This record gives sequence, structure tokens and C-alpha cells, in this order.
Amino acid sequence: MEIIRNIIGTIGAIILTFNTHTLTYTDKRVEEEKKSDIYQEYKISSDTSLEKLAPKKSSASTGSTTSWWSYPSDIKNCTRDGDDLLVLVNKEYKLPKTYAPSDLVSASLSGIRKGENFTLRKITIEDLKSLVKDAKSDGIDLSMRSAYRSYNTQISTYNYWLSANGGSVSATDKVSARAGHSQHQLGTAIDFSSSEIADGLGGTFSGTKASKWLATNAWKYGFVISYPQGYESTTGYSYESWHYRYIGKTYAQEMTNSGMILEMYLRSKN
Ligand code: DAL
Ligand code: ZN
Repeated sequence: MEIIRNIIGTIGAIILTFNTHTLTYTDKRVEEEKKSDIYQEYKISSDTSLEKLAPKKSSASTGSTTSWWSYPSDIKNCTRDGDDLLVLVNKEYKLPKTYAPSDLVSASLSGIRKGENFTLRKITIEDLKSLVKDAKSDGIDLSMRSAYRSYNTQISTYNYWLSANGGSVSATDKVSARAGHSQHQLGTAIDFSSSEIADGLGGTFSGTKASKWLATNAWKYGFVISYPQGYESTTGYSYESWHYRYIGKTYAQEMTNSGMILEMYLRSKN
């Protein structure tokens, strides 16, 4: 009887342990999904409607395509390492599936609101900290909507937008990068928001004081806008007033002095 009781007890303990693990795992998944910005990403508001941004023939397209909105047929690997602040990642040049930065830290170390939900490369933190602090002194509130996204998260992000765009690949390619082609995989790209728009993300950010402050000052801290207005057919993406990439203060200064947008500046370096 004692033996049978022991056996039943052991089986019970095993089942309990298994369930606890399963529960913990499920909780983690739910947490990860909450943290990921798949469901928090920007809504395309009327001022950035895709229809208004008619595809133009790109003067800079190097592939066999006629429009830079599309991916070229001959996609190449990035010519610089993913850790290199000047690596060109766009529709033509992709990062390896296996690339992930090795120095990711919590973005909260910079003091930005909602930074605890995201990670960034350590190299960005000190400059971001100064940026956030100086913005605050100027009466500007900044929060974070997205930062590092792994290759796999980008697959989910792209698929989310594909579904949101009714399965239209051409519409999705204007607002979301395919996995391997996103600057978010570098751990140096940030999607900003502000209390001015209740920490939302999207076209409404362009009307905020925070957006204007960043457009004027971010480069001084090494951050530059990746997809500026008026250059949609060169970057291949609709205007994203909220998306900045860190290239460091020296290069950001050089880029600003040159008058080039990030896409052209990086092409000149890669
Ligand atoms: N929204 C930008 C293009 C990205 O998905 O990386
Ligand atoms: Zn972004």
C-alpha cells in the first residue's frame, strides 16, 4: 500500500512539475508578445495614406526593378557587419538570419519612458540618455514604441502588416521591412512616441512638438531619421517621422553637413 502511495505521489509530482513548466513557458510567451510591438505598431493615418504616396521611378534603384518600392530580384548580403554603425540595410541589402547584436541592454537605462519594454545596443544608451534629458529640459516628452526586433519578430511584424493590408504585398512593403531587411534587427533603431499622442505610433506623431524637436536635434546625439518625408521612393518606405537610427555623433554630424538623407549617406559608405 505504502509503495503504491509513493508511486502515485511521484507521478503527481511529475505532472505538477510539467504543468508548472508549461505554465511558465506560456506566461513567458504571453509576456514576449505583450512586449513585442506587433500589436502596438503604428496605424497608417490619413496623412500618410499609401494612396497619396504614389510610387515613383527611383533614380537610385540599382536592381532590375523599375520602382524602389519593390524588392529587387537580386538581393545581396550587407557589405558591412551588423555591428558596424554604418551598415546599409535596405530592400537590396539584407542582414544574415543569424545576426543579432551581442550587447543588447534594457532601453530603460537611457531613462526614456516605456524603455523597460525594449532592448537596444549598449552603444546607444549614453547618447540616448542625453537626448531624453535635454528634450525634457526643453519641455518635450519622449517615450518608446519599439527598438530591437529579432529576425523572427520581424517575420511576425511583417505578417501582421500583411494581414492588416488585406494581403497586399506591395502596400505592406511600403510600411514594413521583410525579415533581414529591417534596421530594427540592428538594435540601433528606435520608434519614438510622446505623451502628446498618448504614446501612440503613427502619422499623428509628425504633428507633435516631440517630432519637431527630434527633427531639429536628434543628430546632435547621433540619431538620424531613416525614412524622411519627400524621399519615399529613395528609401522605399512611407514617411516615418518616429523612426530614428543611431549612427553615432561623428557620422551623424558628417551626414547632416553633407545634406544627404541616411539612405544616400550609407550608400556612399557601403
Ligand atoms: N517600418 C520599418 C521600415 C521597419 O519595419 O523596419
Ligand atoms: Zn521603426
